Amino acid sequence: MRRYRVAIVGATGVVGQELLKILAERDFPIAKLTLLASARSKGKHVEFQGEALRVEEVSENSLAGHDIAFFAAGASVSREFAEGAIERGALVIDNSSAFRMDPEVPLVVPQVNPKDILRHKGIIANPNCTTTIMVMALKPIDDAASVKRAVVSTYQAVSGAGIKAMDALFRESKAYLAGEAVQPEVLPFASAPKHYQIAFNVIPQVDVFQDMMYSKEEWKTVHETTKIMGRAFGITATTVRVPVERSHSISLNLETERKLTREQALEILSKAPGIEVMDDPAEMLYPMPFFAQGTDLVQVGRVREDNSIPNGLNLWVVGDQLRKGAALNAVEIGEKALELGCLAR
Ligand SMILES: NC(=O)c1ccc[n+]([C@@H]2O[C@H](COP(=O)([O-])OP(=O)(O)OC[C@H]3O[C@@H](n4cnc5c(N)ncnc54)[C@H](OP(=O)(O)O)[C@@H]3O)[C@@H](O)[C@H]2O)c1
Repeated sequence: MRRYRVAIVGATGVVGQELLKILAERDFPIAKLTLLASARSKGKHVEFQGEALRVEEVSENSLAGHDIAFFAAGASVSREFAEGAIERGALVIDNSSAFRMDPEVPLVVPQVNPKDILRHKGIIANPNCTTTIMVMALKPIDDAASVKRAVVSTYQAVSGAGIKAMDALFRESKAYLAGEAVQPEVLPFASAPKHYQIAFNVIPQVDVFQDMMYSKEEWKTVHETTKIMGRAFGITATTVRVPVERSHSISLNLETERKLTREQALEILSKAPGIEVMDDPAEMLYPMPFFAQGTDLVQVGRVREDNSIPNGLNLWVVGDQLRKGAALNAVEIGEKALELGCLAR
């Protein structure tokens, strides 16, 4: 079996670390693994399959000679180094937002639009974490009943904003419980003019505000969903950061062309790839971040007909945003590209 030379840019971050775990778990066919990050991490060692690998600083040279380069170091790093990696022969699978809405770049969730991989020109973009988790539940319902409108409300874990936001939740919680002053420095986003504590709080802002007073994260949900699904329908979103360590939760209200009962929706979802139905009100069984963290399946529950319209459904969708929302989806894109035989452009 052929093995491939793989690089991870951002190997020391939360997504990079998860990528390492998933590549090992799935026994991705690796011949050589290169770990790259900023100058801050140069010389650190990270374990992979029992071996301590040295982290190097990312540069055009360090990216030469790879078949696949997973980027997980933010949009500016992807913009600076992705093109060079492609010119040196790699397929770039990018976790950042840098190229997601570029019409030349496929934006892929392998269970939803795998064939889009075939038209890549060197880069395949991995969608925003909330969007990936949401479309996993949206797609089977759309196939069965054609979605007319989606109202999306998110409850996003701090790890979605990276290692510093995770540290902030623990640091702030300790200070708050000790009766000490809390000094928020990270959320809603690091470069914001002011910061709010996330410990014992929720923040209805994920990223900067843009058109119509929607946040960038809310627009990503709208535009990326349209691109992945390959057709436009009404989508509106409210994205909120909550004091959860890991796994995003989404309330998904759907209006469909054809009516689906709760039982029909449960049947459809139970057969959908990558979905685990957790829905037993009598047993108080429903998805929660604690159930989803560290798992690969997107969990769906609280399935109900919408009481306010003839053809409507409410779903509660939870997924580990570091796995299916980022690293797992990226590795699955890589696996699919190998299967389709379309690695380099
Ligand atoms: N967290 C999530 O749930 C999630 C989900 C989907 C997509 N993403 C996307 O994935 C990317 C990584 O996010 P993250 O949450 O893993 O962030 P993170 O925990 O803050 O890690 C960032 C990584 O990027 C590296 N990096 C930062 N600046 C760099 C530079 N100038 N040159 C080279 N490397 C640099 C860091 O290296 P050092 O350790 O050396 O600083 C670290 O390895 C982002 O684009 C993010 O939007 C994240």
